[in-house]
Amino acid sequence: MSILVTGAAGYIGSHTCLELLNAGFDVVAFDNFSNSKMESLIRVEKLAARSLVFKQGDVRDRAFLQDLFSKHNITAVIHFAGHKAVGESIRTPLTYYDNNVSGSIALAEVMSEFSVKRLVFSSSATVYDAQNNLQIREDSLLRPINPYGRSKLMIEQIYQDLAASDTQWKIATLRYFNPVGAHESGMIGEDPNGIPNNLMPYISQVAVGRLSELSVFGSDYPTIDGTGVRDYIHVVDLALGHLAALQALKSCSGLITVNLGTGKGCSVLELIRAFEHATGRVIPYHIVERRPGDLATCYADPSLAESLLGWRAKFDINTMCQDAWRWQSKNPQGYGNVSNY
Ligand SMILES: NC(=O)c1ccc[n+]([C@@H]2O[C@H](COP(=O)([O-])OP(=O)(O)OC[C@H]3O[C@@H](n4cnc5c(N)ncnc54)[C@H](O)[C@@H]3O)[C@@H](O)[C@H]2O)c1
Repeated sequence: MSILVTGAAGYIGSHTCLELLNAGFDVVAFDNFSNSKMESLIRVEKLAARSLVFKQGDVRDRAFLQDLFSKHNITAVIHFAGHKAVGESIRTPLTYYDNNVSGSIALAEVMSEFSVKRLVFSSSATVYDAQNNLQIREDSLLRPINPYGRSKLMIEQIYQDLAASDTQWKIATLRYFNPVGAHESGMIGEDPNGIPNNLMPYISQVAVGRLSELSVFGSDYPTIDGTGVRDYIHVVDLALGHLAALQALKSCSGLITVNLGTGKGCSVLELIRAFEHATGRVIPYHIVERRPGDLATCYADPSLAESLLGWRAKFDINTMCQDAWRWQSKNPQGYGNVSNY
């Protein structure tokens, strides 16, 4: 009995594979390496001192999926495979709808064909209304403002219709807030292609000397210090949320939608200070204009995750910064092309 993990070599996928292996699950993993390297999973196997089954392939490739399902006794799927860069999604929307939405349909079709109807799906807080400045609950207004967020909402709606059409389906849609940090070993972590889109990898790359300075977009938001406030969640907490969701699906029916966040907001300047405090590094930054589409405040109400999944985030901002820095300082070029371990 195995768990199939799509997009397994990526940032969240690799950390989740490790927690699955540590918890005793057998893992069948695949990735097309559009945004990752095999090295992450090689290190996962070393950390777990266990192997997983890995195949290179694309989630849109039905024949590839059928081959996997016919060869392995898969009982549930955790679906990470997708593109995730907001700016890129605005420039190339069709690529995003094809990869994210078509891939999620192909996966569900093949799961249905093989009567595997337990699924955990990576959604995102970008599905919520950007104007919502309060703590966000799962029933808060949905209004994504870019193709990436809309692709996630479309998939949620498709899976809702699927669960309504067939009561055997058990689906958990997890809306992540801002995943950061890395496994405490410093062996696996976030390795973005090119200039990072997200704040923590940007800060880490400034700290390690790959980038010279951080731009802080806007200092006149109605927040504690004028900079944007987000809900940063340690990637290991997030990974454990997937294990909790798998467990919860045994007793839930239909589709459940759950926020995965800490419930605590942290401003950009607070994150910079926390990183400096945790690492002893100084992060040069300068304030620039607000970025269109950015919102002032976005943090989760995580209470449903606690009541439905029995899960809550454990790690604080200090640990997130320490772990992000351990990963970045041990791997200044990310996974690069060679194995350091
Ligand atoms: N990291 C975040 O800030 C964040 C926030 C909310 C939601 N999410 C979602 O969580 C999931 C995982 O995110 P991540 O941060 O680990 O991103 P990631 O890019 O590191 O991982 C995604 C993985 O999927 C693979 N992939 C993409 N398209 C594929 C395809 N067609 N077939 C097979 N593999 C494919 C990539 O190569 C990559 O390894 C994504 O669906 C993302 O949209 C991420």
